[in-house]
Amino acid sequence: MEQFLSRRAASITPYQAGEQPQGSDIIKLNTNENPYPPSPKALAVLQSFGGEKLRLYPKPDGGVLKSAVAEVYGFDEDYVFCGNGSDEVLGLAFQAFFDENIVFPDITYSFYPVWADLFSISYKTVPLRDDFTVPVNELVGDGVVLANPNAPTGIALSLAEIERILQNNSDHVVIIDEAYASFGAGSVASLVPKNPNLLVVSTLSKSHSLAGLRVAFALGQPHLIDGLVRIKDSFNSYPLDMIAQEAAAAALRDTEYCAAMSAKVVSTRERTAQQLGELGFTVLPSHANFVFASHPQVSAAALKSYLSEHGIYVRHFNKPRIYDFLRITMGTDEQMDALIESIKGFVYSVSC
Ligand SMILES: Cc1ncc(COP(=O)(O)O)c(C=O)c1O
Repeated sequence: MEQFLSRRAASITPYQAGEQPQGSDIIKLNTNENPYPPSPKALAVLQSFGGEKLRLYPKPDGGVLKSAVAEVYGFDEDYVFCGNGSDEVLGLAFQAFFDENIVFPDITYSFYPVWADLFSISYKTVPLRDDFTVPVNELVGDGVVLANPNAPTGIALSLAEIERILQNNSDHVVIIDEAYASFGAGSVASLVPKNPNLLVVSTLSKSHSLAGLRVAFALGQPHLIDGLVRIKDSFNSYPLDMIAQEAAAAALRDTEYCAAMSAKVVSTRERTAQQLGELGFTVLPSHANFVFASHPQVSAAALKSYLSEHGIYVRHFNKPRIYDFLRITMGTDEQMDALIESIKGFVYSVSC
């Protein structure tokens, strides 16, 4: 039935999201969700939300959420843009700031080339070095997109390295996608006031355990925020519903809870990396809520299948350079213990 599709719809290759297996007894370590519940303050907002308000449209700019972001990050509200998940904010940013010749690493969030193709923006990929670090000085183009920490490697650049990218591209917008910044790398939002070309995109999906609520925001100088609003208001003026705005604002203000849960994830990550290392895996140095690991004697694809047969889901990318790796999201310590036991069974069976 391709005859009914526009040329654009027929020609694109959509992003492939990780599987969403269901079941109470599975261990889901494949889409970088947070294993802990959202802030009790956000849950209280959800429980007491007065549904009668839903008769009205929500605030088009994020309302109380925009105020909460501004307060927590110490910016004026005109430095803040709120959206329905960072996939939406990033998609809007591609349309607002890029025409052609943008750059991003060859191994990174696989949605970037999809947006570039959808919006007919030409792009060049810059190969990561052999150790999967970003060759900072090579990221130069008419627009830059960088996940920091990068995905799926988990490797983070320092604030000084991001500053260098901003200086090397001072006439073009640099988008720093901070989906995983709360797990040790930290935000580069402090660079916003001095850099008119910096847009920082952040999500509550991972750091605040709110992947299901679909909430994210961008921080940038007002001319960039205005650019995002121009595109938003030409597509969907009300991307965030009222419930999401209020619950996300409460979650964001509960900075102590977020820090405590992130610290737990970081400690599980360090423990898991060590255990995988003891089993012979190479684990890239991660600042995210996942690790990226490969084993010299074990096929990553076969291990992924074995684990899913045992109810444990991890992510394997059928792509050059990273075919031998698995990306493993951090669950609770108990879930990671079950993972390690299962991996031991597999490693033992292939080495005997
Ligand atoms: C690097 C990166 N950016 C953005 C996203 C999108 O996050 P969300 O749309 O849930 O905010 C993801 C999701 O996995 C990601 O890995």
